[in-house]
Amino acid sequence: MTGPGMLPSTRLGRVGPQVGVQGLGCMGMSEFYGPSDLDASVRTLHRALELGVTLFDTADSYGTGHNEELLGPFVRANRDRVVIATKFGLVRSATDPHYRGMDTSPAYIRKAVEASLRRLGVDTIDLYYAHRIDPRTPVAETVGAMAELVERGSVRYLGLSEVSGAQLREALEVHPIAAVQSEWSLFSRDVEEDVVPVAAEAGVAMVPYSPLGRGLLTGSFTTVDGLSEGDFRRSMPRFAGENGRHNLGLLAPLHRIAEARGVTAAQIALAWVHHRAAVHGVAVVPIPGTRALHRLEENVGAATLRLTEEELAELLPLGGLVAGPRHAGLTFASLRASGGETAGQRT
Ligand SMILES: NC(=O)c1ccc[n+]([C@@H]2O[C@H](COP(=O)([O-])OP(=O)(O)OC[C@H]3O[C@@H](n4cnc5c(N)ncnc54)[C@H](OP(=O)(O)O)[C@@H]3O)[C@@H](O)[C@H]2O)c1
Repeated sequence: MTGPGMLPSTRLGRVGPQVGVQGLGCMGMSEFYGPSDLDASVRTLHRALELGVTLFDTADSYGTGHNEELLGPFVRANRDRVVIATKFGLVRSATDPHYRGMDTSPAYIRKAVEASLRRLGVDTIDLYYAHRIDPRTPVAETVGAMAELVERGSVRYLGLSEVSGAQLREALEVHPIAAVQSEWSLFSRDVEEDVVPVAAEAGVAMVPYSPLGRGLLTGSFTTVDGLSEGDFRRSMPRFAGENGRHNLGLLAPLHRIAEARGVTAAQIALAWVHHRAAVHGVAVVPIPGTRALHRLEENVGAATLRLTEEELAELLPLGGLVAGPRHAGLTFASLRASGGETAGQRT
């Protein structure tokens, strides 16, 4: 395995802050991927910063506020070094764990930002994303309200998650956008057709979420049945039933290359995202999620790994062979634009 040296840094798009070239996704520390150990998660946060990870990703919806509260003390203790990114727009309920709503109206944004600032215990959010675009509110109105937060000093930089190229263009008419966060991995490549070219042209950074395919690409489990009872992935279309078996069966080339290089499958998957971003000429800061210190170190170790043309050619077809949409439910504008699947599970 490639060990973790100090992570190089990069600018998060033309207008964004300087950050380590890999961020840390913190969602799993609160919800979705089975039980978490709070102390282990906090140790992972501190180790990440030591290794040069500076972009920490959360959302108000993760654990219905729990994730922001978990990160708060860490962010406050390292305020000048941490770039904290959070999101609004996916609405949860304190009383009904199954409730999912969406709201990106200006009135909602003004309430949501205050709640996130309070939970994080900071005066300013470094990067504030619209988690989804609610079709009831025009993009320009949402971004206009976000721009007011920048003027007020509550937010430093703006981001959008799961937007189409057209929506990104609309947003850029209103205010500079530092980053677009979308699912992007060996198994999820629809962004390359639509939003990535617009981001590249406009100097907006891509922040790939689930770059490890929510763990699928790591080889850490060989059957979905091995995931814990409450693990949300058990019900996701790419994990459940025959799709899960089929998709896990696609990993042979990844394992072969990893073994030959003496690295791990997760490291190959992360190196692949960096390579694709270079092909598109777009700045990229993937945010693999982990609660485990040793996995964080492994993932950071991938940042300097370069794949050969032969290896890349072997890996490229995998995305087209994947069974099942990446989410179930509503349709993301980003997927509609790329002609991809219908989607919508809100994490
Ligand atoms: N904008 C959005 O709509 C959206 C949606 C989903 C996620 N996100 C953000 O993106 C971040 C990352 O995405 P993700 O967590 O869904 O998926 P991911 O990064 O593709 O994969 C995370 C999963 O892989 C495991 N893992 C991580 N590193 C590993 C390694 N080296 N070896 C083996 N297993 C490893 C983690 O388990 P352990 O924790 O047990 O290590 C976890 O189960 C999230 O934390 C969240 O901040 C955003």
